[in-house]
Amino acid sequence: MLLANKHILLGVTGGIAAYKTPDLVRKLTAQGATVRVVITHAAAEFVSPMSLQAVSGNPVHHTLLDPAAEAAMGHIELAKWADILLIAPATANCLAKLAMGLADDLLTTLYLATTAKVILAPAMNQQMWKAPATQVNLSTLQQRGVSVLGPADGEQACGDVGVGRMLEPMDIVCQLTATPTELLKGKKVVITAGPTREELDPVRYITNHSSGKMGYAIAEAAVAAGARVELISGPVTLSPPVGCSLHNAISAEQMHQRVMQNIDEADIFIATAAVADYRPKQVASQKIKKNNDELTLTFVKNPDILKDVANLPNAPFTVGFAAESENVETYARKKLVTKKLAMIAANDISAQGLGFNSDKNALHVIWKEGEKKLPATSKTSLAQSLIALIAEQYNKKST
Ligand code: PMT
Repeated sequence: MLLANKHILLGVTGGIAAYKTPDLVRKLTAQGATVRVVITHAAAEFVSPMSLQAVSGNPVHHTLLDPAAEAAMGHIELAKWADILLIAPATANCLAKLAMGLADDLLTTLYLATTAKVILAPAMNQQMWKAPATQVNLSTLQQRGVSVLGPADGEQACGDVGVGRMLEPMDIVCQLTATPTELLKGKKVVITAGPTREELDPVRYITNHSSGKMGYAIAEAAVAAGARVELISGPVTLSPPVGCSLHNAISAEQMHQRVMQNIDEADIFIATAAVADYRPKQVASQKIKKNNDELTLTFVKNPDILKDVANLPNAPFTVGFAAESENVETYARKKLVTKKLAMIAANDISAQGLGFNSDKNALHVIWKEGEKKLPATSKTSLAQSLIALIAEQYNKKST
């Protein structure tokens, strides 16, 4: 009963995924929530208000100008009643109206009138999801503290394949019950992720085994916790978490530049990337030929992104990672002090099946006044625990 005593106002807008909402209502009520449903005219083409009334046990609201409804629970009362306004499915049209602040129906009016936590589960055609207008609307809403769950990747009702499917009701309920949605509400969080590549010649480069999975999971957890996330990513093959702004970088120098371009007014900086400490002094303009038995290269030091951020005049709460294969805690504590960090996550990369390019990891998180061991688990779950810990310590520091 993880949603016991929660008042959830479920907004249903007009997409094919609306047919899943009776199941969603059942799963929410099974967790102890009281659910009231607001449905748009278009949504009523996809799901019957009568079904939603039957499963929620409450009348379904659909018109703004309905004297009978206003005489019972009026729209302002409904807005005040809600702890959470969950809109599922949220169509592209709905996102646009919310971002614009239009109030031409009951649901959009409620969005403006409520102080409840607003959570969207978008659903639309994959091309509509990718459309710049949709992405701008989404980021506007997120900057205002709206949380976004999904959408998922896969086959769509229209036959397309891609990102745009509404999350399954079970996934929505899991995220609602697991997500610490208020922890970083409105905070700006800058995160580095993945490896860097340092060029040797037109065809070769030096890199490492970082997949970006840890950093991307942290970005996702930070978005879920209500943060505005700038993700600075090295070359990886992952899709960026929904709801964060992605900035690509290849080399350490480029990553340094992107971080500095985005660090203004950041509240928290998390350096998950495996940045090359050195780069070749010279990049050959032509492919290096194998004329000799030995090849000697000279390297020069790359800028230290983490150290430079931690030493800024208005430095954010700066969290470093320490990937170590021996003396893990000792080296991590040294980095915490010498780089002037608020926190460091020590990563024992000698542990089997954890760390680089794995789906699992474990961390020993250390800060000046304390420490916490986060045991081995999926990077998704570990990232949620790490974000909760960072938020706790950040909030202590800033109060
Ligand atoms: O990407 P995955 O496959 O999911 O793997 C995750 C991970 C193992 C890469 C990640 O959990 C991790 O441990 N990242 C830190 C890797 C690393 O390079 O650690 P380091 O000890 O060399 O660097 C210390 C810290 O300084 C790190 O926060 C690093 O991002 C930062 N750094 C290092 C060098 C540099 N020039 N600039 C930096 O900002």
